[in-house]
Amino acid sequence: MIELLLIGIGTGNPDHLTLQAIKALNSADLILIPRKGETKADLAELRRAICTDVLTNPAVRLAEFDLPVRDAANPDYRAGVDDWHDAIADTWRQAIRDGVGTAGRVALLVWGDPSLYDSTLRIAGRVATGFELNVTVIPGITSLQALTASHAIPINDIGAPFIVTTGRRLRDEGWPAGVNTIAVMLDGECSFRSIDAKGVTIWWGAYVGMAEEIILSGPLSEMSDRIVGTRARARADHGWIMDIYILRRA
Ligand SMILES: C[S@@+](CC[C@H](N)C(=O)[O-])C[C@H]1O[C@@H](n2cnc3c(N)ncnc32)[C@H](O)[C@@H]1O
Repeated sequence: MIELLLIGIGTGNPDHLTLQAIKALNSADLILIPRKGETKADLAELRRAICTDVLTNPAVRLAEFDLPVRDAANPDYRAGVDDWHDAIADTWRQAIRDGVGTAGRVALLVWGDPSLYDSTLRIAGRVATGFELNVTVIPGITSLQALTASHAIPINDIGAPFIVTTGRRLRDEGWPAGVNTIAVMLDGECSFRSIDAKGVTIWWGAYVGMAEEIILSGPLSEMSDRIVGTRARARADHGWIMDIYILRRA
């Protein structure tokens, strides 16, 4: 039986690791570290650093593997993602076989928490071929929580709902019906520019929780250009960026 531990590690701050996560990492036979390519090399480095910081059990082994790249040219987006997830599952299966055979505890460090815009759980469902697999999730701090903490704001108005969505959906579909608060992730294009800014406040953050963190907030009409410029400079300086924001209508 393979015990697969999917461990939420928070958003890049080693202090985001919970005691439960630290215990789980130390209970593993093998920790798999994905390499995502040069531009995100520092994230693999961060995973390694987290392991070095918290591992006290000398029996835990680390193994790195290269993540397959998604075929962005596939015109059928869903089919392309499906094929990509199959390819990742193949890579995990091989790394697990090489590392522990068909029995052992294998850990994967998941950015933030595996429940939020993350395919690790879906991929885990495809891995078990030729062995039994049991999946355990250790929750982590999400980028949304890191953002609200950095701005010291609640995500919802009293008794009110909110929606978490993507930059693409905000651009394509506009402000979602039935809510005054939306959190936007996976937005490479500053999609807040596509909505009517009147009466809207933005709380934006890049690299939230990390040493590089930048946060800005205020009326969207005043902050929009400033965020676009800040984002572009930060991306150029670091070679990569992850950002997230909350929009609230009065
Ligand atoms: C694939 S999703 C993963 C989300 C992750 N599972 C979580 O719990 O936050 C990646 C998106 O999360 C957001 N994100 C993750 N880490 C972030 C960080 N440190 N600062 C700002 N946004 C972050 C960005 O919107 C990014 O495009």
